[in-house]
Amino acid sequence: MKEQVFKFLKQEYPNLDFDVFYPPEGLGDYSTNIAFILAKQIRGANLSPERLDKPDVLGPNIKKIVEEVIGKLKKEFSKEFEKIEVAKNGFINFYLEPSFLQQQLKSIYKNKRNWGRGNLGRKQTVIIEYSQPNIAKVMHVGHMRSTFIGDTLANTYKYLGYKVIRWNYLGDWGTQFGNLIAAYKLWGDREKVEKNPIETLNKLYVKFHDEMKNNPELGEKGRQEFKKLEEGDKKNRILWEWFRIESIKEFNKIYQILEVKFDTIISESFFEKDLKPLVSELLDKGIAKKSEGAIIIDLEKFNLSPALIQKSDATSLYLTRDIANLKYRISKYKPSKILYVVGNEQSLHFQQLLAISKILNLDKTKLDHVKFGLVLGEDRKKLSSREGKAIHMMELVKEAIEKSRKKIEESNKEYSEVQKEEIPKVVGIGGLKYFVLKEHRNSDIVFNWDEILKPIGNTGPYLQYTYARLKSIMRKSKWFPPLRLRSFRWYIMPNWIGRRFAKINISELKSEQELRIIKQLLDFPDIISNSAKLYSTNNLALYLYELSSRANHYYETVEKLSDYSKRPERNARLLLVETIAAVLKNGLNLLGIEAPERI
Ligand code: ARG
Repeated sequence: MKEQVFKFLKQEYPNLDFDVFYPPEGLGDYSTNIAFILAKQIRGANLSPERLDKPDVLGPNIKKIVEEVIGKLKKEFSKEFEKIEVAKNGFINFYLEPSFLQQQLKSIYKNKRNWGRGNLGRKQTVIIEYSQPNIAKVMHVGHMRSTFIGDTLANTYKYLGYKVIRWNYLGDWGTQFGNLIAAYKLWGDREKVEKNPIETLNKLYVKFHDEMKNNPELGEKGRQEFKKLEEGDKKNRILWEWFRIESIKEFNKIYQILEVKFDTIISESFFEKDLKPLVSELLDKGIAKKSEGAIIIDLEKFNLSPALIQKSDATSLYLTRDIANLKYRISKYKPSKILYVVGNEQSLHFQQLLAISKILNLDKTKLDHVKFGLVLGEDRKKLSSREGKAIHMMELVKEAIEKSRKKIEESNKEYSEVQKEEIPKVVGIGGLKYFVLKEHRNSDIVFNWDEILKPIGNTGPYLQYTYARLKSIMRKSKWFPPLRLRSFRWYIMPNWIGRRFAKINISELKSEQELRIIKQLLDFPDIISNSAKLYSTNNLALYLYELSSRANHYYETVEKLSDYSKRPERNARLLLVETIAAVLKNGLNLLGIEAPERI
C-alpha cells in the first residue's frame, strides 16, 4: 500500500519530490510529507522549519490545495483506507480500513507458503560467495558468520526470483601451502595425518610458524616449496592434492550438520594456470607495471595503495587469483551481481579488487564486499580456545547441540526416541544461527551460550517454540481449513457439513491486536526485499521476533480458540494463527533455521 500511495501521488504530482513513510506509533499506518512540499512550491522557500510545528503551518490557501490532494486520495483508495487526514503538523496520515486488512489476510492465507516471494530477480543471476575456509586449516568461528550470512542472503535472493550461484571459494593455493609442505617434509608422519588429517596438518602448520620466529630460514624454505608447487613439481602436487581432499571431506561434515549447501567449490587453485597469462596481459595493456622486480597495478586514482599482483620471485598472490576468478565468473555466468561475504579485515583487498574491476571494464556487474565484524569472547577479545587458538567450528556446533540436549533432558517433557535425537540438533543449531544473524553484520558479536539457548527473548529457541506452539494450537483445534477441505469434501463429506466447518467470519478479526498482526504480516515482502537490498539479516530476525511476541501475546489473551459454539469467530482466529505460523516458518527457513512442529 505504501508503494501504491506513492505511485498514485507521483502520477498526480510528477514534479514534486516527496516521500511516503511509516509514521511513529499512533499516527496512522503511513504518512506523507507531500503537503509541505506542495506548500513550499506554492509559497516559495519561505516556509522555515520552525514554522512547521505551528498549527497554521499550511495557511488557508494551501489548506484548500491539500484538501484537494486528500480528496483525490480518498476517491482512489476508498476501500483501502478508513481515514486520510492532514495532521496539525502538516503531514497527511493514512489509516488502513479493517475490512481491507481482513481481505488481505485471506489472500495471504491462500498464498501463505509463497507469501513474500517475488520476481525482482527474474532472469538475473547473482553469485554469492561465502564460507571460504582454508585448506589444511580448521574452519573456525571467523568462517561461521560468513557461512550463516551468506546462506541467508542466498536463500533471500532465491526467494526473490534470482538465479543464485552459491560459491564456496576455498583458500587452497598460496605461500601457506609451501609452508605446510615444508613442515610436512620436516616433521610429518604419514600415519598420523591419515588418522586425523586436519588436526595434524593444522599442528604442523602452527609449529612451522612458531619455529620460523627463531629460524627465519624456514620462511625461505616455505617459499621455495610453493614455487616448486606452482611450477608443477610432482611430489608437491601429490601432497597438496592429498591435503585438499582430506580438508574438503572434513568441511563437508560440518556443512552437512548445518544444512548449508554450495553449487560450486571452484577455488583459488583452479585459476593457477590463468595467472601468468593474466599478468602478461595486464603488462601488455599497460595496466600493470614492473616495480622493484615485482609487478603492481597503480591505484592512486582510487586513493588506494598499489596492488601487488606478482612477487619478485614470480609467484602469484591472493589478489591475482581473485582477478582471474572475477573474469571467469563474469564470462561464464554473466551475473548482475557478485557478493563477497568476507570479514571487515579484508576491506582493503576488496577495495583494490573493485577498483581493478573498474580499470578492466568489468564493472557492469555490481560487485559488493558484504563485510562483517568479529566474534568476540566474553572478555571482549577475539574468541579463542584456552590455549589462545581459534575455535573449531565443529566444536562449537557440537557444543550447541550438547547444551540443548541437556536442557531438553532437564525439562521432564516426554519425547520419543527420534525427537530426543532431532530436537537438540534443530534447537542447538537454530540457536547458534539466530544468535549470529540477529546482529547487524557490521557490529562485533560477544559470544554467550546463555543468550544463544535462552527459551525466552530474542533467541532462536523462542522463535522455534512460538512456531511449535502455534502448530499445536492448530492440531488441538481440529479445524479443517477451507483449502484442504475442498479435496476432502468431494469424496467423503456432504457439502453442508463441509461448509459448516469452514465457515469463517473474517470480520471478527477487528481488535487492535489482530489488526496489528495482519499489518505486520503484510510487511513481510517489504522486509525481504529490503534484506536483499541492504545485504542484511538482522531486519528479518527482528521482524520474526516481533511477530513471535505478538503471536504469543495473542494466544494468551484471545479467548475461545477452543470454543466450538462460536465457530465462525473461532475459525477466523485460527486462520490468523495458521497464517502467522506459515510466515514464521518461511522467515526462519530464509535464515537457514528449521521450524520444528514440536519442541
Ligand atoms: N579464504 C579466505 C580466508 O579465509 C577468504 C576468501 C574470500 N574470498 C575471496 N574471493 N577473496 O580469509
